[in-house]
Amino acid sequence: MIGMIVGVPKETFPEERRVAVVPTLAKSFEKLGVDVWVESDCGLEAGFPDPAYKEVGFSVISDRSRLLNKADVLLQVRGLGANPKMGEEDIPFFKKNQIQIGFLDPLTEKGSIDRLAGAGVIAMSMEMIPRITRAQSMDALSSMATIAGYKSVVMAANLLPRMFPMLMTAAGTVAPARVFVIGVGVAGLQAIATAKRLGAVVSAYDVRPAVKEQVQSVGAKFIEMELESDSSEDQGGYAKELGEEFYRQQRELMSEVLKDSDVVITTAAIPGKKAPTLVTREMVDVMSPGSLVIDLAAERGGNCELTRLNETVLHEGVQILGPGNLPSTVPFHASQMYSKNLVTLMNHLVKNEEIVIDRQDEITQGILITWDGDVVHPIVREKHGLPPIEKPGPTKEEVEEKADGS
Ligand code: NAI
Repeated sequence: MIGMIVGVPKETFPEERRVAVVPTLAKSFEKLGVDVWVESDCGLEAGFPDPAYKEVGFSVISDRSRLLNKADVLLQVRGLGANPKMGEEDIPFFKKNQIQIGFLDPLTEKGSIDRLAGAGVIAMSMEMIPRITRAQSMDALSSMATIAGYKSVVMAANLLPRMFPMLMTAAGTVAPARVFVIGVGVAGLQAIATAKRLGAVVSAYDVRPAVKEQVQSVGAKFIEMELESDSSEDQGGYAKELGEEFYRQQRELMSEVLKDSDVVITTAAIPGKKAPTLVTREMVDVMSPGSLVIDLAAERGGNCELTRLNETVLHEGVQILGPGNLPSTVPFHASQMYSKNLVTLMNHLVKNEEIVIDRQDEITQGILITWDGDVVHPIVREKHGLPPIEKPGPTKEEVEEKADGS
């Protein structure tokens, strides 16, 4: 009997080197009772050649259109929304009720999301995995941010005209590099830890005072700013957008720290919003020639006024980098982590070798973007200017509870 087919196409986004499924997770897919079809060479750049997939019993398919059309579930790094140009070519092969899971950029890519809905695809977005304990091992954004935080420091160490560690040599003492990390979420914490491992003196700042202990626990100094920040956090523990006056004061106080930093890594993000501008041109002016800014928020408009996505800007001797897809530069581990996130999600969705879309489930509700020809995610609908739709009906338990109580 042919089981449910999980298809893994080769990524087509320019310079994307990750793959959605790695062969080392074959056992987990086997337990789900699914057949895995991978497109030929899909894992080559990440270090997983075709024979590695064949060895674990996956089918290697060279005909992309056949794979796209036969798969009941497509697992991708960048689904159509996150690959709007190249992804267009795949649309004719999608089929109704095919489940597609991947990064989809659903809040910004309205056209692609409409096309997925139009094709009758059930699209699930990995960006929208709720940050709740139960879903932690499915949280692909955190996995990728961990890699970006690490890689930003490695890049900085490579470009900085100084060394990171303090060295006492016969030729004199070398002072350690001073690294300042702005925004201490997942990427920021990993950047701090990596810079510490390389021997830098690290300080960090975040609007959420709750992160102070985490910063100190990895051996860095938390920079306190006398700013009104009581309401900087929303209920989900994410940063909220703050007023212009707040950002003005913040910039003033931060300039003092920038003056003494060799490397500034910015990671400040507010979910669903453009990144806040935290480092202005004037602030870069106070930095020493030879120092660097690595702006991880470049894809969302950047935290530094001078950032240009995927470019290096040289301003008065200071380099400002806005790297766009750092996880793809560490494709082996990025694929391994992403693949693990996906298989955990599949475990959550598959019951008796079938995917069950339980629209009452918090995780499913959080990631389900299109269903039955329509865009169903309330936040995505709001962002796309669509009227709200009725919530899915109450759960069986809720109905029973109500019946018992009345
Ligand atoms: P996160 O949400 O875990 O952390 C963001 C942090 O920024 C939060 O702790 C928040 O409190 C802080 N923040 C917000 N406004 C601030 C302000 N005004 N001042 C100081 N801190 C502020 O996000 P995560 O997962 O760590 O990602 C960080 C950034 O890195 C995002 O912009 C994300 O898109 C980006 N990223 C970039 C990649 C790349 O290759 N360039 C890859 C992965 C993530």
